[in-house]
Amino acid sequence: MKRRSLISAGAAAAALGAAGVRAQQQIVVKFSHVVAEHTPKGKASLKFKELAEERTKGRVKIEVYPNSSLFKDGEEMDALQLGSVQLLAPSLAKFGPLGVREFEVFDLPYVFDNYDELHKVTAGPVGANLFKKLESKGVQGLAYWDNGLKVMSANKSIKVPSDYKGLKMRIQSSKVLGDQMKALGAIPQVMAFSEVYQALQTGVVDGTENTPSNLYTQKMHEVQKFVALTDHGYIGYAVIANKKFWDGLPGDVRKQLEEAMRDATKFGNDIAAKENADALDAVKKSGKSQILTLTADEKAQLKKALSVVHKENESRIGKETIEAVYKATGHKV
Ligand code: LMR
Repeated sequence: MKRRSLISAGAAAAALGAAGVRAQQQIVVKFSHVVAEHTPKGKASLKFKELAEERTKGRVKIEVYPNSSLFKDGEEMDALQLGSVQLLAPSLAKFGPLGVREFEVFDLPYVFDNYDELHKVTAGPVGANLFKKLESKGVQGLAYWDNGLKVMSANKSIKVPSDYKGLKMRIQSSKVLGDQMKALGAIPQVMAFSEVYQALQTGVVDGTENTPSNLYTQKMHEVQKFVALTDHGYIGYAVIANKKFWDGLPGDVRKQLEEAMRDATKFGNDIAAKENADALDAVKKSGKSQILTLTADEKAQLKKALSVVHKENESRIGKETIEAVYKATGHKV
């Protein structure tokens, strides 16, 4: 072959080769979640994207869709099982509809006093067993991501149980959270996260519970006159993948993604407490909501009224799971 044709044949082969490699090897991973980008979950998912793309040298492209822009609550689990999305990070309170009710152990009132107690559960046998239960649903558990302890909000002062009587309170799709609101005399309303701000604004519901970070980034404090620092429960996440997709990844790519996930998890869990503290400060500074700090006696009244929820949900969650959580944290309610 003449030198000129050799060069062009070589160039064509190289171009074809590169295109072929790209076509074969670029794996697009859609990662959908429902919260804002400037939250612990929003930031951790972007960190995962950065690390995953860097470490796979572009073989993997992670497309992060925040704020329910791809799928919202009530849609995303089906989409994951069908393979329309590959990664999600739903709140632990949203696994009941998937048929894994044991996750609702995380919703029990006052079950965790702090992040250390929570981590003893997520990093221990309970966390591992819960992930095992997902497999038969075609779902692979990858990591637990932190958010924080919850506040309550409404347009009236809410400190002791009697203050909640008759209030319509938005909750996530968890039976335990429903029972929690009923134990306070409130009326629980399950609603997708993307609809909460408008429901509060228009009075479809009177109040809600969430972490300061979610409350602030969704501007809920602008349509709620009172925010009570109850710390009565926890919101955090399980990062999950479509199992078939995850198992089908080339081994080296899966390993790189697992490492990226491990480091993104550490990053997100390290910033969660500060993100919530900063959000609470921002709510205070906004002057839109009055922050209610509870006395020890008011908190004790709430704890007492809510303690029934543990027993009520023993058969739903499983006594063994509840006992294992008590053992890990070192206390009951
Ligand atoms: C909610 O639905 O209230 C939150 O758990 C949303 C989220 O993902 O933090």
